[in-house]
Amino acid sequence: MNKTIIITGGAGFIGSHVVREFVHKYPQYHIVNLDALTYAGNLENLKDIQDFPNYTFVKADITDAGHILDVFRHYRPNGIIHLAAESHVDRSIADPSAFVMTNVIGTVNLLNAARDIWKDDYRGKRFHHVSTDEVYGALGDTGLFTEETNYDPHSPYSASKASSDHFVRAYHDTYGLPIVITNCSNNYGPNHFPEKLIPLCIHNILNNKPLPIYGDGKYTRDWLFVIDHAKAIDLVYHQGKDGGSYNVGGFNEWQNIDLVKELCKQMDQKLNRPEGTANKLITFVKDRPGHDLRYAIDATKINQELGYQPSVTFEQGLSLTIDWFLSNQVWLDNVTSGEYQKYYQEQYSK
Ligand code: NAD
Ligand code: DAU
Repeated sequence: MNKTIIITGGAGFIGSHVVREFVHKYPQYHIVNLDALTYAGNLENLKDIQDFPNYTFVKADITDAGHILDVFRHYRPNGIIHLAAESHVDRSIADPSAFVMTNVIGTVNLLNAARDIWKDDYRGKRFHHVSTDEVYGALGDTGLFTEETNYDPHSPYSASKASSDHFVRAYHDTYGLPIVITNCSNNYGPNHFPEKLIPLCIHNILNNKPLPIYGDGKYTRDWLFVIDHAKAIDLVYHQGKDGGSYNVGGFNEWQNIDLVKELCKQMDQKLNRPEGTANKLITFVKDRPGHDLRYAIDATKINQELGYQPSVTFEQGLSLTIDWFLSNQVWLDNVTSGEYQKYYQEQYSK
């Protein structure tokens, strides 16, 4: 194998799809999945590739600087693709500290370890930081986020991701570290953890539980199928300009209430239930504090510079996603037991 890439957060939702994409597509690369296996990390997500000869799993916490340095010195990666994070906005409102530790300190620990092993000889090296559109804040009814939009984060989660982006750029500008950043819109797809809107609603429809819609449901998100995000990361990792950042999205905006109604329609059809059954579960609940009104990505740069285009329409992606959850109810039952129940009670009893 001619190259080693450490992918952090590879046992999570998006990370597992990135790991799978790289393990299959690049048999000549050694892919090291570095993950702490928090509540959101699940090696079940990678069962199909766990025995591939070019894949290794390492359990490590990115907040542990010493351990991270040891892992980097041992594997001597040419590249890092950094996805490990605390990723849920509602959890960041309940407990911001974990977000500072993992998303900010953890990212700085990885940057330091990369500098240490690369010793300022950066030929053939790359640190790819995976970030979010939430760093740009909220849009009104019109406009799109471009790569030039000023950062204006509102939640503890987005503030921690914005801070990590700034550190990654600072290491490029100060030490010449070769970096790229991607800022992606909302992902959905197989293995999505059911604390997030789409998988939460799929889980609740299956169990005839209320579908909690925050506020008036008019908040807007821009949805991209997770495998299309993984493909964008592959493209930018290999072809993005040094020091550059790329917005990733599919020009696919939905108000939450319309999205949930569409999901209800498809679920009723797939479950052979009378039309309107799932809709009756829709319940408006207390709003998220500081709730950003609208996110929408202008993905022109990645399209024009690198030829990126999503491979599936939203209709196809949503149908594939529901089918995956219907065929993987054991996975869903496993991740919604234990700690999840406690979180769910606390989040939705207010
Ligand atoms: P996730 O919560 O599903 O997975 C996060 C992974 O990181 C888990 O495997 C977890 O075990 C691991 N992790 C957490 N803390 C760690 C630590 N201290 N050390 C090592 N590993 C740790 O997250 P996701 O939704 O897959 O998001 C992945 C990345 O993509 C994040 O950086 C997130 O900010 C970004 N992102 C997510 C979305 C989205 O819609 N989910 C959109 C754009 C960007
Ligand atoms: O935009 C990218 C971001 O998308 C990522 O950086 C985050 O990691 C990811 O979690 C996601 O953040 P959101 O807050 O947009 O996703 P979530 O699924 O939590 O919420 C989507 C919308 O649905 C949002 O407007 C809040 C609303 N919502 C969410 C939940 C969980 C509800 O109305 N009810 C709910 O129960």
